[in-house]
Amino acid sequence: MKHSTHNESETVEVATGLAATLKPGDVVAVSGELGAGKSVFCRAVMRALGVADKALPSPTFSIIQEYDADDCRVAHMDWYRLDEVTEIEMLGVRDFFLPPWICLVEWPERAADLLPEGTIQVRIQCDTDHMAWRLIQVR
Ligand SMILES: Nc1ncnc2c1ncn2[C@@H]1O[C@H](COP(=O)(O)OP(=O)(O)OP(=O)(O)O)[C@@H](O)[C@H]1O
Ligand SMILES: [Mg+2]
Repeated sequence: MKHSTHNESETVEVATGLAATLKPGDVVAVSGELGAGKSVFCRAVMRALGVADKALPSPTFSIIQEYDADDCRVAHMDWYRLDEVTEIEMLGVRDFFLPPWICLVEWPERAADLLPEGTIQVRIQCDTDHMAWRLIQVR
């Protein structure tokens, strides 16, 4: 599915729509260049799943953030600063690919081979002419 968004709130709507289809055990890989809107997208998914607003956004960087949501727990990962598949694997990320978790991964390309079969791929592309336009592909 392809969505064109023209501002941040339209991206939030796309993310909210995806969140409604998610169930525990789902893994969502969100890719796109620096500043594309991966965190905007993930935070919107988390809010829609019932993660409390006060838990977001976290001021401190960490590779794995864990949250309680309505009917699941949510793991939000950012693999940007990791460069070895083994380094990522050693963090025990696979534990978060199973219920009760819904797992959201930014910079999944750092260790694409670790992602389970059936991972939902979200690709956010910037527009060369319009600063706030994005093409969001979900498959
Ligand atoms: N259509 C849009 N959708 C999403 N974000 C947008 C849009 N237009 C502008 N923005 C802005 O782009 C920025 C996206 O920042 P965000 O931190 O989500 O990017 P990111 O992909 O997570 O970057 P990083 O690779 O550093 O983690 C925000 O400042 C947001 O307001
Ligand atoms: Mg980010």
